Amino acid sequence: MSVEPAIAAQPSDKLGLKIPAHVAVIMDGNGRWAMARGKQRTEGHVEGVKALRRIVDLSIRYDVKHLTVFSFSSENWRRPRDEVNFIFGLLYRFVASDLATLIRNNVRVRIIGTRIGLDDALKRLIGEVESKTARNTGLELIVAFNYGGKAEITEATRRIAEAVAAGRLKPEEITEATLERELYTHGIPDPDVIVRTSGERRFSNFLLWQGAYSELVFVDENWPDFGEATFLKVLEEYSARKRRFGGIESSNS
Ligand code: IPE
Ligand code: IPE
Ligand code: MG
Repeated sequence: MSVEPAIAAQPSDKLGLKIPAHVAVIMDGNGRWAMARGKQRTEGHVEGVKALRRIVDLSIRYDVKHLTVFSFSSENWRRPRDEVNFIFGLLYRFVASDLATLIRNNVRVRIIGTRIGLDDALKRLIGEVESKTARNTGLELIVAFNYGGKAEITEATRRIAEAVAAGRLKPEEITEATLERELYTHGIPDPDVIVRTSGERRFSNFLLWQGAYSELVFVDENWPDFGEATFLKVLEEYSARKRRFGGIESSNS
């Protein structure tokens, strides 16, 4: 059996691109990709996993430090039971087939989202992926699964209220940092860029707090078609943006 070599980062400064430290992606359009080809929506999700592998490889090669992917939203429970089950099954299959490769490529995996409503087997799987990759020092792959930005902020607020009620925290001590510590994403820098595929232009409850100053890039392609050409277009668009964070442009930005 041949062992594939680990993917290495390639210097991209030659390309004159600014590389975002954190790229977040709303992987949208799997269903439309499939319907346009006369296939079942589920086939679009299978192809979507292939595009996910591609963006993980690209992020390693272009030296992105954190990659967040939106794979299942707290509102996606509204879909037909069969489709929800299929997407959950895909997560299991992805872990079974890709965990060894992720470890070899030094990828650390973190799954963000509420664990409420997930069965014990899935919770065990999430724990296993996180613990087996916890010591890795390369790309951090953050999978937003069963994730909703409003639920995240609500859960954080509840824990802060409990701390106040228990006398461990005074209301006047609450700062943005207090809230950030309670988010699923604690310790992860905010995304520099949020990409959404399939031509839709909305957040759909993704990283509402963390995206406050993210650059937004919308691409028309459906997620299963995402590859290096689109990735480079996103990097080019990001590189051309002027980020001010409320200030004024500085000469060295
Ligand atoms: C994104 O593709 C994947 C998930 C939301 C799980 P969709 O399934 O939303 O595809 P469209 O938007 O219906 O085409
Ligand atoms: C957002 O896409 C969620 C994911 C990509 C996982 P949706 O397809 O669920 O979003 P809406 O319903 O079009 O806003
Ligand atoms: Mg969609």
